[in-house]
Amino acid sequence: MTMPLKSNAMHWGTLAKTFHWAIVALLLVQGTLGLVMVELPKKPSVITYFTFHKSLGLTILLLALLRLGWRLFDRRPEEPASMPRWQVTGARVGHALLYVLLFAVPLSGWLFDSATALRPLVWWGVVPMPSLTGGAAPDLKDIAKEAHEWLFWTLVFVAAGHAAAALVHHFVHRDEVLRRMLPRRRAGDAT
Ligand code: HEM
Ligand code: HEM
Repeated sequence: MTMPLKSNAMHWGTLAKTFHWAIVALLLVQGTLGLVMVELPKKPSVITYFTFHKSLGLTILLLALLRLGWRLFDRRPEEPASMPRWQVTGARVGHALLYVLLFAVPLSGWLFDSATALRPLVWWGVVPMPSLTGGAAPDLKDIAKEAHEWLFWTLVFVAAGHAAAALVHHFVHRDEVLRRMLPRRRAGDAT
């Protein structure tokens, strides 16, 4: 069975699926790490977790960028013909919001890091990253920190609604919407 890289009218392509699920998996790790690390006692050893969080967050930002870039070339499968107009619109608005949040969450973290200017930001200890504020910006610190936290919870909320909608498609409407985003199609499915 061939697994085309590009999406077609019926199915998501391999690349769109890989981006989708890789980002979901990394977000789970990243969100959990973020929530846990801020509760740890402020000892020098926690710096390791913060540094890891920043590099993983920048990786998610890069993946989001690549994903959106690919999405501009790729098409998306058609919604089931039975889907009412308001649901199609709702899904599109939700997806657009998820894309915005995939950028806004890591960018706000990066902004906070730049505003504090505590340590140089070096992606995985290799690639020096520029400061978004060009040096310490005490006025921005609190706003960026609050924004990072609230944008994260907005992402959790929208993603939960999105996942619930996917499950409703699968178990209530019994259509192809969830199945065609899953990594493997069942043998016998048309490609
Ligand atoms: C999609 C990517 C990201 C997610 C899901 C994420 C999520 C989180 C979460 C849930 C927290 C805990 C918030 C709280 O309860 O106070 C947090 C804190 C933090 N994040 Fe991120 N983050 C991401 C990207 C980044 C990036 C790219 C940076 C910096 C380059 C960053 C820097 C920080 C810092 C410094 C804190 C600690 C804030 C504090 O001291 O309270 N994050 N992040
Ligand atoms: C943080 C978690 C998630 C994010 C950020 C996310 C993001 C997205 C985005 C942006 C799209 C639109 C793709 C495009 O048009 O290019 C999408 C599609 C989709 N997602 Fe997620 N997703 C997440 C979690 C989940 C989960 C947990 C499920 C399953 C329960 C799921 C199922 C789907 C399905 C089935 C589609 C295709 C919808 C369609 O054909 O219109 N997603 N996702």
